[in-house]
Amino acid sequence: MMGPIPLCVLLPVTVLSVVVAVAAEEKAVDDQYTWPQWNLPLVRKRRTVPLTSPNFSAQPQPELSGTCGIECQRHLPSPSLDDLEQLLSYETVYDNGTRTLTSVSVQHLNEASVWSRNTSSSSRHKREVYGTDTRFTITDKQFSTKYPFSTSVKISTGCSGVLVSPKHVLTAAHCIHDGKDYLDGVQKLRVGILKEKSRRGKGGKGRGGKGKGKRRKGDKAKEEVQEKEETAGKGDRKGKGKSRKSRSRRSAESEKPSFKWTKVKQTQVPKGWFKGVADGLAADYDYAVLELKKAPKVKHMDLGVIPSVKKLPAGRIHFSGFDDDRPSNLVYRFCSVSEESNDLLYQYCDAKPGSSGSGVYIRLKEPGKKKWKRKIIGVFSGHQWVDVNGDGSQQDYNVAVRITPLKYAQICYWIHGDSSECQVA
Ligand SMILES: *[C@@H]1O[C@H](CO)[C@@H](O)[C@H](O)[C@H]1NC(C)=O
Ligand SMILES: *[C@@H]1O[C@H](CO)[C@@H](O)[C@H](O)[C@H]1NC(C)=O
Ligand SMILES: *[C@@H]1O[C@H](CO)[C@@H](O)[C@H](O)[C@H]1NC(C)=O
Repeated sequence: MMGPIPLCVLLPVTVLSVVVAVAAEEKAVDDQYTWPQWNLPLVRKRRTVPLTSPNFSAQPQPELSGTCGIECQRHLPSPSLDDLEQLLSYETVYDNGTRTLTSVSVQHLNEASVWSRNTSSSSRHKREVYGTDTRFTITDKQFSTKYPFSTSVKISTGCSGVLVSPKHVLTAAHCIHDGKDYLDGVQKLRVGILKEKSRRGKGGKGRGGKGKGKRRKGDKAKEEVQEKEETAGKGDRKGKGKSRKSRSRRSAESEKPSFKWTKVKQTQVPKGWFKGVADGLAADYDYAVLELKKAPKVKHMDLGVIPSVKKLPAGRIHFSGFDDDRPSNLVYRFCSVSEESNDLLYQYCDAKPGSSGSGVYIRLKEPGKKKWKRKIIGVFSGHQWVDVNGDGSQQDYNVAVRITPLKYAQICYWIHGDSSECQVA
């Protein structure tokens, strides 16, 4: 019988990978660039009406398909002001199972906020999404419970999210609603924040959390992705013996962090996400905000607006989430953006289901200051099958939703409940 693996064998592997991850995070700074300042449009509440309670019958989807992506959206007309007011109107669902619909008005929709549809790159990059697996598992609590990693949270429906205010979490809309109905787990929605002290042996079996995110087996597309990534991952791990790999995995498991689960009081989803509202633009509205019952004592990350990631020297985005192939561990990655439109980013980051809803951030300097600052500029939507030419052909991409000035104004309004606090980003 094999005894427990001595700590001295485990330590170098784990510590090394964490140090590499943290160093990578530190290095990828766009030194010369500062956060642009934006005058935001105003998103104001028009009126709120009660709706019948939802059925909460939808099942989580590990992967979206048939998304009208960047190419496909080029064929669509720009939304009018009326359209935008429709798309940005939103539902609020409360923890008592009721919901309301709030219609909004949009004002000061100036040049800065309506980004011309063709400002972004139109070059057709050959897709090379899955190179080496560039994900880092942040097992060491010294890092995972410290900023910026500590802003990443787990959503009880099986997704990830990010703290964007003392008590608000940004995530993907599809983690809450499938376009037709709210997900099964939404009425008892909870958010898991990594705890500094783990309960040995018990892993992540905190209240609420597990059980909810049902395993979805037999999903062909999902398996395909996994296979691709695993093949790709091999190159990366060359040189590390197999036994070593499994040891480091085991060590990660013995250090499984535990979560403190916090109840969600209310959830807001833009109407643009709902079936039949957005006509091909739904992918742009794959975001939602959860308000927690109690504010966790964890620093959040501010939102930011950036018109083009590709134009930054490093051109990289970062995000951390809870990929479901590494249960209960926080996984961090960074990568380049391969193509972008006003509302969407395609990128090369490796990701598995479970990381959907992660906050995508970059780091730039604050104007007139020496220090750089991280801000959330998008929400990771996930691996998707995207309509390319409107002729039924599909391609797979990793897609993130960009926070445009309008979406910033809306999310800011959700967070503050007062649009006068949301005039500048
Ligand atoms: C709930 O489900 C019933 C039966 O499937 C359907 O008729 C009803 O429209 C649904 N209600 C909502 C609010 O989705
Ligand atoms: C449900 O909660 C909301 C918000 O707290 C409240 O406005 C509403 O009256 C409640 N409805 C019921 C039926 O309890
Ligand atoms: C967008 O494209 C149109 C035609 O392709 C062009 O006339 C216009 O100047 C472009 N706008 C910007 C801001 O590049």
